Amino acid sequence: MTFENRKPVVAIYPGSFDPVTNGHLDLIQRAAVIFDKLIVAVARNLDKDPLFALKERVEMLEAVTFDWKNVEVDIFEGLLMDYARAKGARVVLRGIRAVSDYEYELQMAMMNRKIEPQIETVFMLPAGEYSFLSSRLVRELARLGAPVVKDLVPKIVEERLKAKVS
Ligand code: PNS
Repeated sequence: MTFENRKPVVAIYPGSFDPVTNGHLDLIQRAAVIFDKLIVAVARNLDKDPLFALKERVEMLEAVTFDWKNVEVDIFEGLLMDYARAKGARVVLRGIRAVSDYEYELQMAMMNRKIEPQIETVFMLPAGEYSFLSSRLVRELARLGAPVVKDLVPKIVEERLKAKVS
């Protein structure tokens, strides 16, 4: 296949998104200009007990990605590679913040490659200001009423966090 007749590149950005943070959003913006289509795929079955129900996580993602017409929000369950194959995806996108993320991400990427060698995991870096940010810390800060959450998550998430923990 030549470059000219290549198919549009579909990328899947999978995760828990409990809730979506400015770090996730930063990565979505960067990826949306690289890939032809980006599917933000929210995992249905979490081992962890989520703060936000699946529907809420999807609603918040839909609201904050509304302006990007090549970004779609979806739900997946079961094996990520089965889902990616079904969507015709060539890429799975994951964010890496610090070296500490790398080991887990490497394991996951290599296992996914074993399952489906045709799909590449692509790692991207969020802006430096989000290198310490995680949904887990956001949940914890919100539960403890810390005001800093304001600059870490989109407005809609901030409001829903407030409602949830008040
Ligand atoms: O945001 P998270 O919690 O780091 O996302 C992890 C997620 C949902 C991407 C990962 O757990 C996953 O892909 N789950 C689907 C099940 C699966 O395919 N497992 C095999 C991965 S090697």
